[in-house]
Order: sequence, then structure tokens, then C-alpha cells
Amino acid sequence: MAMTDQPEIVTERLVLRRPRLRDAPRIASLLNNFEVTKNLARVPHPYTINMAVDWLIRQKREWTPDSVTFAVCDKRNGLMGFCGMHREGRDAEIGYWLGQPYWGQGYMTEAATATIDWYFRASGSDRMVSGVFYFNAASLAVQEKLGFVRTGIGKRICLAQNAEIDHIETELTREAFYKALETR
Ligand SMILES: CC(C)(COP(=O)(O)OP(=O)(O)OC[C@H]1O[C@@H](n2cnc3c(N)ncnc32)[C@H](O)[C@@H]1OP(=O)(O)O)[C@@H](O)C(=O)NCCC(=O)NCCS
Repeated sequence: MAMTDQPEIVTERLVLRRPRLRDAPRIASLLNNFEVTKNLARVPHPYTINMAVDWLIRQKREWTPDSVTFAVCDKRNGLMGFCGMHREGRDAEIGYWLGQPYWGQGYMTEAATATIDWYFRASGSDRMVSGVFYFNAASLAVQEKLGFVRTGIGKRICLAQNAEIDHIETELTREAFYKALETR
């Protein structure tokens, strides 16, 4: 089957597009911030442009609904963060971050809503998982707005903190997502 280019998703305020190699300096400037990376599993601190280049090279051109990365952009600020899906064991997991200047303006709720809607349409799957480190109330609030429910507590390595940290595991069903969307 011929690969098509990763789709671009346009929302009210945002464009979600494929990452580009030339995004590396911008990614490094937003991600070299412990306030961001202490919340993420796989991003070390400090974070350099070379790390961003390596990461971008590893983002294969091929994408599937279960393995896709969207750069979250708007007209005024350009690239503000990322939202994407990857495989975690048997499950498709959503992950995301925004640069600190862009927090608290509803951007990730908007970006994740669009990504999840796209995922449920593109994959045919009825479920996805996610989670947050126990102290990440903002991310848990985003997930609860989207319809995620808690399923347990596990442990995850956090590279930036160089520690294994309690992780609240969550899951989202297709039904809960569209129900939550109707009531928002
Ligand atoms: C988590 C993150 C993506 C949220 O993005 P955002 O665009 O600021 O989120 P939104 O503005 O869409 O929604 C944030 C919600 O959290 C709530 N919130 C923020 N801080 C909170 C806190 N300390 N306690 C409880 N709720 C909080 C907000 O009130 C808002 O909910 P509301 O719309 O019902 O008022 C962003 O803070 C971020 O990138 N953090 C660092 C990386 C990270 O944590 N990634 C996720 C890892 S699981």
C-alpha cells in the first residue's frame, strides 16, 4: 500500500502538522526546561538541539494511527509543543507537552481532542491509554475533561528526574470520549 503523507489537522486555533528537521532549535528551546520535562517519561534534562535532531530523525516518515507525532502550532507563536500516539505494550498511548509560555490557555485540550478524534476515526480502535506522574494535576485535568478514567497506579522512569515515579494510569474509550465531547 502506498504511504500517504501524514495528515494535517486544523482546529479552531491550531494546526497539527508533521514535525520537520528544522523544528530542532525551537523544540530544544521549549524543552530545555525542567518544569516541562519533569512531567515527561523519556525526555532528559538538560535538553540540547542535538537531542532534538536525533529525536526528529527517529520520527519515521512512515506513520500509522498508533505511531504518529503532531507538532502543535498556531499562527502567532509557531510551534508550541507536540501531541502524538505511540505503542506502549499492547496499547496505543497518547502523550503531549507544550512549552511553558503556552500553558493554561486550553491549547492542549484543543490539540488532544483533535488528535483523539482523528485517532478513533483512522484506527478503528475503541480504546487508548495514557497517564500522568502523580503530581501532574494539570495534565490529569486535561485527561478528565477528555473522558479518561483512572485505572491504577504504576511506576515509570522519568529521565529528567532520573527517578522512578508513581504514575497514575488512565484509559479512554471511544464511547467516553464522544460522550465527554457532547457535554463540554
Ligand atoms: C499538561 C499540559 C499539556 C496542559 O496543557 P494546557 O494547554 O495548559 O491545558 P489546558 O489549558 O487545555 O487545560 C488545563 C486544565 O488543567 C487545569 N489545571 C491547571 N493547573 C492545575 C492544577 N495545578 N490543579 C488542577 N487543575 C489544574 C486547568 O484549570 C485546566 O482545566 P479547565 O479548562 O477545566 O480549567 C501542559 O501544562 C504541559 O505541557 N505541561 C508539561 C508537560 C506535561 O505535563 N505533559 C503531559 C505529561 S502526562
